[in-house]
Amino acid sequence: MLEAPNRRPARFITFEGGEGVGKSTQVKRLVSNLASASVEAVRTREPGGTPKAEAIRSYILQGRSESWGAGGEAVLFAAARLDHVHQLIAPNLAKGTWVISDRFADSTRAYQGLTGGVDPKLIDALESLALDGHTPDLTLVLDMDPELAFKRVAQRAIEDGLALTGDRFEKEELDWHRRLRDGFLDIARNNTDRCVVLSADQGEENLEKEIWKVVQSRFPELHAGIEA
Ligand code: TYD
Repeated sequence: MLEAPNRRPARFITFEGGEGVGKSTQVKRLVSNLASASVEAVRTREPGGTPKAEAIRSYILQGRSESWGAGGEAVLFAAARLDHVHQLIAPNLAKGTWVISDRFADSTRAYQGLTGGVDPKLIDALESLALDGHTPDLTLVLDMDPELAFKRVAQRAIEDGLALTGDRFEKEELDWHRRLRDGFLDIARNNTDRCVVLSADQGEENLEKEIWKVVQSRFPELHAGIEA
């Protein structure tokens, strides 16, 4: 019988946090660190990751769903997630490829639930429908003072030569961002088995190293892979 090329279980890792904390950069760096450890990983994001979910993403981020209210939007995010889980996340995990996602279900809990006021029972129900048992193995919550994160977003826009218009979520008030930050910290406190909070207020390189340490200690099979 042929031996499976990669017998280590594939892991599902999500990144969460407010705006401008540097998730996308760290997602890319983690995928490349995994590649150095001979682990195949796919990088994805939410909302999005599949054609249907990307269509929902542009509808929402253009501000077209605002009149649906936070509850309606929670349903839209969940519909996008349902497709993402079934078409991308589950099939990759099943074939042994790790999945690293820039945002996932905790974003709905933080944005639409804890900050947007949607009933936690509805959030729970949507989560169980969309995840279908695919709870992340590890969630890295990147935490930063929103005032600082704002400055980083502005600086990035200047560097990219863009006007700081922002999508509709980036236009929210500072106070709202503080509540959002507390929301993510709350989620982490209630899910200590799954979530690790890391300060995003450090250099990208330091944060990358810290993340890599967490991932290696969480999944010791990575060492086995390097030594093999
Ligand atoms: P994006 O440009 O990807 O923002 P970021 O770089 O901060 O991740 O836009 C996604 C926006 O959608 C972001 O403001 C968070 C919001 N969002 C929710 O409100 N609920 C959700 O369930 C998800 C996945 C995202």
